[in-house]
Amino acid sequence: MSVDIQERENQEHRERPISEGVTRAGERDRADGRGPEGEPYDVVGIGFGPSSLSLAIALEEHPEPLRAAFFERQPALGWHQGMLVPSAKMQVSFLKDLATFRNPTSSFSFVAYLHERGRLARFVNNQDFYPTRREFHDYLDWAETRLRHRVSYGAEVTAVELAGAAGRGPADRVRIEVSDPAAPGGTRSVEARNVVVSTGLVPRMPAGIEAGGHVWHSSAFLHRFRGWSGGPLKRVAVVGAGQSAAEIVRFLYDTLPDARISAILPSYGYSIADSTPFANQVFDPGAVDDFYRGSQRAKDAIWERHRNTNYSVVDDEVIRGLYQRAYDDEVSGERRLDFVNLSRVAGVARTGDTTRVTVRSLADEDEYDLDVDVLVCASGYDPMDPARVLGGLDKYCPRDEQGRYRVGRDYRVATTDDLSCGIYLQGGTEHTHGLSSSLLSNIAVRGGEIADSIIAGRTARGKGAAA
Ligand code: FDA
Ligand code: NAP
Repeated sequence: MSVDIQERENQEHRERPISEGVTRAGERDRADGRGPEGEPYDVVGIGFGPSSLSLAIALEEHPEPLRAAFFERQPALGWHQGMLVPSAKMQVSFLKDLATFRNPTSSFSFVAYLHERGRLARFVNNQDFYPTRREFHDYLDWAETRLRHRVSYGAEVTAVELAGAAGRGPADRVRIEVSDPAAPGGTRSVEARNVVVSTGLVPRMPAGIEAGGHVWHSSAFLHRFRGWSGGPLKRVAVVGAGQSAAEIVRFLYDTLPDARISAILPSYGYSIADSTPFANQVFDPGAVDDFYRGSQRAKDAIWERHRNTNYSVVDDEVIRGLYQRAYDDEVSGERRLDFVNLSRVAGVARTGDTTRVTVRSLADEDEYDLDVDVLVCASGYDPMDPARVLGGLDKYCPRDEQGRYRVGRDYRVATTDDLSCGIYLQGGTEHTHGLSSSLLSNIAVRGGEIADSIIAGRTARGKGAAA
């Protein structure tokens, strides 16, 4: 089940206000929603997370200038801030940054960032491929400052429709509707020849459980934790066996010395994320080609074999740290960490001052109640759902047998002949482009491929007009 409510809560808790003096992309747009020079934008990006940042850099570095604008619903750049717990590390090498794999000489690289911050030597001395998520966020902020003029923050895209009158040949523009409290009337719209949807993963709650004051999804964890005013937290349960769950259990254990933490897991504790060199090849840019060209059987096999690089798995270091804490508790006789193995959460109810969690054992199907102050559901995410913004174009976007968008190798959604404008996806392409679709591994290369495709489309249009 997706959690719209949780997403709204996340937005309300964003840490940084809209920066003063930020140029709002398209601010000087004409009343008809076209770009500053009266032409539609060449490209409009929906969402401004790392994927769009990468694309914006690829456009910036492209020899052919393009008119581009991005809309982001958060008040400022924010990369999974609800999970920005201290000491959480990246799950990808610092070299898989916003630009390096596409352009190793880019001035937007992580190395350029370190150099500018005066930390390059110390970073290298640290001999670690994986920066903290906090440092990587600082890198994203640093990169964003040079692209800010292209972004409108606090601006949520609500719909994408065809622009222009129908029946006069294929539509070459879309109109992007934006809910923007800073605009007159609270809404605005712009036109574009290409739209790129990069709206990110969607938090998922366990079936039948809703997020609320005492039941949190991991995506909002830190906002909820910091905003908690319900008295001392003595008993917290954390659902899930993935990286989010393990990081939250570690954080709670270390931050709340008087609390007992129950980890409810469908397995025997946490399993290790395979980040060994051979397995890591599944994230190489070339692996996208293998996956894209592969038969359905090959695609299924790749997923099956390499799921454990990313889903429901945890970094070695975090697993060992948690085990050590539990062992130290045994020695001291003060057990604060409670691993409820082979179990799933089946329901939750609020009774008086208590949150009563129904735990179902996978071993014997028995159910029992666990009373806690707060339940944290680190139950994962659904892939990006482009239809949330593209729904209005549904009839022009034929789906495959399983109802998924058909997507070209250049991440362009296949459309009927009614459209000549481009619709591109960064995310939601797990079925066509494979495991790295929702990750950072390939964003630099993907941004470049999308920029190339958009430029090629413009060149072809130009030639068509000249002929
Ligand atoms: P992302 O979700 O970051 O950004 C999407 C943006 O779109 C958001 O800012 C959102 O507000 C905005 N948006 C959504 N709908 C909108 C609308 N209608 N209008 C306007 N704006 C809208 N991967 C990896 O490779 N290495 C890693 O270390 C990690 N670490 C990690 C930590 C945590 C806690 C999570 C949950 C996930 C990761 N990931 C990861 C995977 C993660 O998907 C990846 O890091 C990026 O966030 C993907 O970037 P995107 O820009 O595609 O999505
Ligand atoms: P995840 O890997 O999908 O894990 C979700 C977990 O919740 C699974 O173990 C799932 O088990 C379990 N679960 C779901 N419903 C349950 C229920 N009712 N009862 C018990 N368990 C239940 O999600 P994630 O940990 O949030 O990770 C998502 C992505 O974010 C990954 O790419 C991860 O690498 C990334 N991430 C990165 C960092 C970092 O960079 N430091 C931190 C956190 C997350 P089943 O599979 O059996 O349902």
